Amino acid sequence: MSRVAIILGSTRTPSIAPNVAALVTKTLEPLLPAGSTLTTVSLRDYPLAPYITGPPPIMATPGKYDDAQTNAWSNFVSSLDAVVFLTSQYNASLPPSLKLALDVLYHEWAKKPVFVVSYGGAGGTQANEHLRAVATFMKMNVCEKSVELPFGEGHNPAGGDLQGATLKNWSEGEKAAELKAGCEAFVAMLGSKSA
Ligand SMILES: Cc1cc2nc3c(=O)[nH]c(=O)nc-3n(C[C@H](O)[C@H](O)[C@H](O)COP(=O)(O)O)c2cc1C
Repeated sequence: MSRVAIILGSTRTPSIAPNVAALVTKTLEPLLPAGSTLTTVSLRDYPLAPYITGPPPIMATPGKYDDAQTNAWSNFVSSLDAVVFLTSQYNASLPPSLKLALDVLYHEWAKKPVFVVSYGGAGGTQANEHLRAVATFMKMNVCEKSVELPFGEGHNPAGGDLQGATLKNWSEGEKAAELKAGCEAFVAMLGSKSA
């Protein structure tokens, strides 16, 4: 039994992320051990200042930061057993909102099983790679399988909708199969505390 959260890396409005999270939930939830919980969290609900006060988080005590926002985020992340990061790609990397949410903490993340799902014109390949590199550096237990979801022909990234060729491929095509295989690999990690 695990408490798992899908963390939406984008804070943009409108973001496609809630629609992608619904797809991940549909695939992942039935695979989780009985009694597990799966929630989706928006970083908009945990606004963080774009700077860090006090010692580097690696030297800090979880829940004992200088500001209430970071403590709220710290307490939430500490309460999780595992995380799915859903990341868009912004200029060849992960969104700054997600990088900040990672950087303001340290020990809260360590050893957690994490699964990375990215999306973008070409699947968000660079965001996916960068995020996994950061998570590995921060001693998270990164799932060996990650998923890159590319926009299909005619996708309009401005709207936040998930439809047409994009939806078809992600929900029933080749990418749906990849997502399922990734979710299975992630679920197999639950319960193991380190790589
Ligand atoms: C600041 C910014 C930078 C972007 N850079 C890239 C990029 O490097 N590669 C890409 O495929 N799409 C890029 N896009 C398009 C996004 O993939 C697309 O807008 C996507 O819907 C963003 O995710 P979101 O809707 O969850 O915010 C960028 C979008 C923004 C807003």
